[in-house]
Amino acid sequence: MAGAVSRSAGAALRLEGTGTELEEIEIRLLLDGIRLCYGYDFREYALSPLRRGLANAMARENVQSISAYQDRVLHDASCMQRFLGLVGVNVTTMFRDPDLIRCLREEVVPLLRTYPSCRVWVAGCATGEEVYSLAVLLDEEGVLGRCTLYATDLNEDMLAVARLGSYAVDRVRRFEESYQQSGGRGSLADHYSISGRSARFSHDLQGSITWTRHNLVTDGSFNDFHLIVCANVLIYFRAPLQERAHRLFYDSLIRSGFLAVGKRESLLYCPDRDHYEQVRDGVSLYRKTRW
Ligand SMILES: C[S@@+](CC[C@H](N)C(=O)[O-])C[C@H]1O[C@@H](n2cnc3c(N)ncnc32)[C@H](O)[C@@H]1O
Repeated sequence: MAGAVSRSAGAALRLEGTGTELEEIEIRLLLDGIRLCYGYDFREYALSPLRRGLANAMARENVQSISAYQDRVLHDASCMQRFLGLVGVNVTTMFRDPDLIRCLREEVVPLLRTYPSCRVWVAGCATGEEVYSLAVLLDEEGVLGRCTLYATDLNEDMLAVARLGSYAVDRVRRFEESYQQSGGRGSLADHYSISGRSARFSHDLQGSITWTRHNLVTDGSFNDFHLIVCANVLIYFRAPLQERAHRLFYDSLIRSGFLAVGKRESLLYCPDRDHYEQVRDGVSLYRKTRW
């Protein structure tokens, strides 16, 4: 019926607004339950995107209250997996920040050339488009062979898509313009082959990437990196969690290593922000200057 709002959609709409005290309690219980049951800790995620994700998740499961949703998610691992996809917000594109990629090309690659081998960490990589963008850039600059890219996300379903390196061809064609803006040396199409409606990135690119599950909330450092890229993830974290992630990045960077974050992100909550210098005005790329 036109104009009618179902009960679950109504609950979702309420969730998107400011919450009642009871809703706050229900959210807290839900997050505690998820942590105890599955080990994922969302308690320090920013509340408004979390509420939006939860509202979508509830509408999808057709449940009318957060408590009912909690019951579903704790008893059904596939529901938990769907929750991860919605609350983690996995929207991504290739060459999302062309100025950043251009800056990496011009300022970071010349330094990577001076090392016999380099390690790059892309944290919160979602379905991998950003990682393939970096691999394309490193390939075009002739340094891919000496680089290993570690691409991580907390959501195994995202990583499964990323590992295939295959995306809808119509979508990939739309990235050509940002590829050019980012200083691409040829055509993005040089890096993939088309089969049916899919564009699959080359074996050379795929072979340079290791995909692993890693949770920025609970996991530690696992290497020394020359470059860390973590874009559009920190905005979903409250200050203490941003601090934790920043400490992890700082400890995981070699001296004079580089940290790139998203366009709308900064080092505001980075406890070591005085130990970084911005590489270029207006670009969210920073170089570690001290241990
Ligand atoms: C909006 S996407 C950003 C994707 C990509 N970095 C970009 O800029 O296009 C956010 C990603 O962060 C991941 N994520 C959220 N919380 C995380 C955590 N605690 N640890 C690791 N990844 C996380 C989500 O699963 C999602 O894939």
